This record gives sequence, C-alpha cells and structure tokens, in this order.
Amino acid sequence: MLEKSKTYEKSAPRVYIRTFGCQMNVRDSEFVAGILIDNGFTMVKSADSADVILFNSCSVRKHAEERVFGNIGQLKHLKRKRPELVIGLIGCTAQAYKEKAIERSPLIDIVCGTGDEAGLPRLIKDLLKHRRRIVAVDKIGRPKPELFPKFRDGKIKATVSIGEGCDNFCSYCIVPYVRGRERSRDAKNIIKEVKSLAGRGFKEILLLGQNVNSYRAGRGKDFIAILEDLNKIKGIERIRFMTSHPKDAHAELFKAMRGLDKVCEHLHLPIQSGSDRILKLMNRGYTSGKYLKLVEDYRRIVPGGSITTDIIVGFPTESERDFKKTCALLEKVGFDSAYTFKYSPRPPAKSSVLEDDVSSGVKEERLRSVMELQRKISAGRSEKVVGTLVEVLVEGPGRKPGDLAGRTRSNKNVSFEGKKGLIGKTVRVEIVSAEPYALKGRLA
Ligand code: 5AD
Ligand code: SF4
Repeated sequence: MLEKSKTYEKSAPRVYIRTFGCQMNVRDSEFVAGILIDNGFTMVKSADSADVILFNSCSVRKHAEERVFGNIGQLKHLKRKRPELVIGLIGCTAQAYKEKAIERSPLIDIVCGTGDEAGLPRLIKDLLKHRRRIVAVDKIGRPKPELFPKFRDGKIKATVSIGEGCDNFCSYCIVPYVRGRERSRDAKNIIKEVKSLAGRGFKEILLLGQNVNSYRAGRGKDFIAILEDLNKIKGIERIRFMTSHPKDAHAELFKAMRGLDKVCEHLHLPIQSGSDRILKLMNRGYTSGKYLKLVEDYRRIVPGGSITTDIIVGFPTESERDFKKTCALLEKVGFDSAYTFKYSPRPPAKSSVLEDDVSSGVKEERLRSVMELQRKISAGRSEKVVGTLVEVLVEGPGRKPGDLAGRTRSNKNVSFEGKKGLIGKTVRVEIVSAEPYALKGRLA
C-alpha cells in the first residue's frame, strides 16, 4: 500500500514523462501525454514538480533497460520526501518485465505495457484513489485506438505511426515479444492525421513502423500507395520513413522515392552484419550479396540519396573473420552513418539461448573499431557535399549564437548564420565545410 494524499482530489495531477529509446517511443509518449491532457492531467517538464513520473522505456538493448532502472533508482530520495509521488514504467520494458519490474525496483507503482497505454488515465486515477500498485500488460498486440497524439513535442517535424509490431523475429530481437505482431494502421486515418498536422503548420513528417515498408492496409494499399497519397497533402514539404527492412525493400520503392517530390532521399536500411553466416543465425532473410544489390539499385535510381544502417557486433560465434566482413561491407557501401551496437541477449528472443561467447572486451574493441571506421567513411561522404547547394528545412537555433540549424533532404545536419524568422522555412544553403556528422554552410 502506498501513502494516501489528498492533493489529487483538489487539483489536476501533474505528470512528467521521461522517454528512453527510439522514435516510436517518443511518439508513444506524445500519445500518452495527449490522452492524459484530455483526461484532466497537466504535463510538466521536471520530476520535481510532478505528482506522477512516467518512464517510457526501450528494451531492445540491455543497456537501455539498465539506464531506465538506474534513473528510477535515483528517485529514491524524492520518493522518501514525498511518499505520495507515483512512479510508473510504461512501454517495451514494462511489457518485458511485467510484475517483475516492481521486484526489480520497488519504487515503481504502476507498470503499463505497450497495448495498455490508452487506459493510462483511468489506471492512474485508480491508483491515486485506491493506492494499490497496478500491473496492466494484457492488451499487448491490440491496435492502438485510432486517436492521434494531440500533444506534440515540436512545431515543424512530427512523427506518424503507420504500423506497429513485427513478424520478422530476427533471432536477437525482443520487439515482436514486447510490441506484438505486425499490424498496419488504417490508411484513411493516417491521411487524416497528416492533414491535421499540415493544418497545424507542420512541415515534415516521419512515418514510423518497426518495419515501415511492409505496410499493407485494406484494399491493397501498400507502402508506396500511402506515400503517393501523403505526397499530395498541401503544406507538408517533406516525408521521411523508418525503419525499412531489406527483405521488403525493392527498386519500386526507390522509384517512388525519386518520383514523389516530398519523399526525401534518405534510406535507413539496417544490415546488422556483413557475414552471411551471422545473417543466417540472425534470421534476417537476406545475404550480404542481396543487400549490396539493393544498395546498387538505390544508388542508381536515387542519385545523391543517403543511406544509413544499424550494425550489431559480437553476436554469438562472431569470429574475427565475420567481423572483418562487416567492416568490408561498410567500406563497400559507404554509409552516410551507422548506429552501432554491442550484442546483448534479450530473452525470450531466440538467440538468447545461444552462449554469449564473444567476450565483453572483444565486443568493446570491435565496437570501437567499427565506429572509427564509420567515422572516416562518414567524413568522406560529408566532404562530398562541400561546395554544393542544398535545401535545408530550418528547425531551430544552432549551437552558436546567431546560428540556425536544420537538415538537408538527405538528413544531414547543417548549421549556418541566419535570422530566427527563417525557422520553419526551407532555404538554400551553400555548404562550406564538413565534419563527419555535421555540415557548415551559408545562406545562398
Ligand atoms: N543486441 C544488440 N543490438 C540489438 N538491436 C536489436 N536487438 C539487439 C540486441 N539484442 C539493434 C539492431 C536494431 C536496433 C534498433 O537495435 O541493430 O536494428
Ligand atoms: Fe526486431 Fe527484426 Fe522486427 Fe527489426 S525487423 S523490429 S530487428 S524483429
């Protein structure tokens, strides 16, 4: 039993949400904030001023999960000072741990899984009233109600979920177990959501799905059809999407990227490993040869387009030879950037039964070496843009006073001098210098 407090009956409970993890989690936090506001809660920006603190956390890698439990642990003193403070865990980690989350951290009062988030206003109200711990994790895999987030973090760019869950069961991945099987959202509602964002002045949308390009909704609408529909919406200037799976990527998609003026020339296409033996163990459904062929098609059809990827080092049995193949593939493709991760077993994902036999020292060394290699490759890719004119959507002030920051269509960061009035506008910028992950320019 938690301690009783009368404060909630008098005023709107104040909620602070901390989000860890991917864009999908950011989008889910916006959704949760929206429904809480609709139900009389107030959102606040710090833990100190909150009555309810929700941690929305990723469980894809062990590291992310440890961070969230570490952060919850740090609230010990605050909870001691204010025993009525409610601490909640929502999202993938909540779904993965269920009641065990409370065993791991007794500070947690509410555990709410990925399918139960729409019920949070009522769950929190119940908790505040009865002061009994709640674990709600049963509705995993159900479609989210067709509500779109009313609350948005920004004003220029917004994320739009077009589907959730995954059927691919890559052997290392926990996602199918914590987000359920793949379901595509109704195309009509996606269009409605994007129109409403356009009406509110948003310029860029990022379509999200664990496997965005396998989107398939009623009446045969596939991913390309939805891109075509969204491309017609007035006010929206840029459309991006992630994450694409190589097995569902093909020349037709690249042709759509070239043909549809708002769809930006950036493809995030995780390769994970350059070794066919490891790819097979990972159950990825393609070989490095097939991946390279895709890249060749992409480069031919979308000239100047960027390509980014995800890499896992230290998958069980990964030898030095396997790792070298990953490095060779990175060089061959010339990715613009890569997210690199050390393998961690994520039960109940299939590979968690394999011996995690690459030592942490070797994983660390491979990670360092692959990051260093990618940095050089990225530097080369950025260098190529110097001297060219690019289109930049200005997203806000830059780090240096007087600077503005934004992104190119290919998703590269650019900073340049300019007046604040340009925020939200698309401008032409000449690139004058480059670092591996940032460009400097001047207004053209
Ligand atoms: N260990 C390390 N990295 C992982 N990823 C997913 N599962 C694991 C795991 N068990 C990485 C993959 C994926 C990205 C989102 O996280 O590279 O593409
Ligand atoms: Fe996980 Fe593979 Fe699905 Fe991506 S495609 S979410 S890595 S199971």
